[in-house]
Amino acid sequence: MYAYNVFIKGTLASLLFLGLQAQAGEMVGKYRLAEKITAKEMKAWDISIFPDGKNLPKGSGDYKSGKALYDAQCMACHGENGKGGIKLDPYRGAVDTLVKSKGDSLISDTPKKNIGTYWQYAPLLFDYIRKAMPYQSPKSLSTNEVYALTAYLLAENGIISKDMVVNKDNLAKIKMPNVDGFICDNRVDTKSVLCMKNCPLPGEKDFNKGVKIDPVDHLKSDCLVQPKINFKGK
Ligand code: HEC
Repeated sequence: MYAYNVFIKGTLASLLFLGLQAQAGEMVGKYRLAEKITAKEMKAWDISIFPDGKNLPKGSGDYKSGKALYDAQCMACHGENGKGGIKLDPYRGAVDTLVKSKGDSLISDTPKKNIGTYWQYAPLLFDYIRKAMPYQSPKSLSTNEVYALTAYLLAENGIISKDMVVNKDNLAKIKMPNVDGFICDNRVDTKSVLCMKNCPLPGEKDFNKGVKIDPVDHLKSDCLVQPKINFKGK
């Protein structure tokens, strides 16, 4: 009986082991763990657009189609005409509403942040919507749909006219009201390089020099851009 029990247990254990092994093998195959990502695959993720419009894809969109898309796919969360909806998370840097209401300003005990008062560059609006919205299915919109939503939100904020067709050539030329509302913060620790070995410990000489942050490529500049405290967003 003892031997039988040991046999059964042993068999179960090895079946379980084999099972786990098979599962692990399947996962490695399925998720391609430890495999190198190819340049082509990387390209699908490497879609960042720069403030000057670099990397904007070909395509275009206008207010009218943007409004139809907004009402169908965005309004449930961001409210009618972008002026209400769910409370976004200001502690994570999110704006209060997407669209500006009359009198909204950044100078106030309760500054009102939105695309009209706060956003600095129009191409980044395209970038954000393409990468992150709609919240429940990011990257599901086509290029033209993203252009249309960008046109809609810019027009609702009074930044462009409702007849403007937005595309890769004119988006960066749109001057955002708050473009000058940021300052360059060039304190030492904003442009540092990561210390990887033999780093000084707290209290040791040069500790502050050792603890350094290496900004990712597209943020490499002489300074970190910070909002001006007293700028009156128009
Ligand atoms: C299910 C809810 C939901 C839907 C639908 C949705 N959003 Fe959002 N959206 C959010 C949330 C939540 C945030 C804040 C995200 C964060 O802070 O990480 C956000 C943030 C944004 C922002 C950035 C605001 C800022 O902080 O400056 C824009 C622009 C935006 N959404 C546009 C859209 C557009 C365009 C659509 C429709 C295609 C859409 N959203 C659909 C929930 C939603």
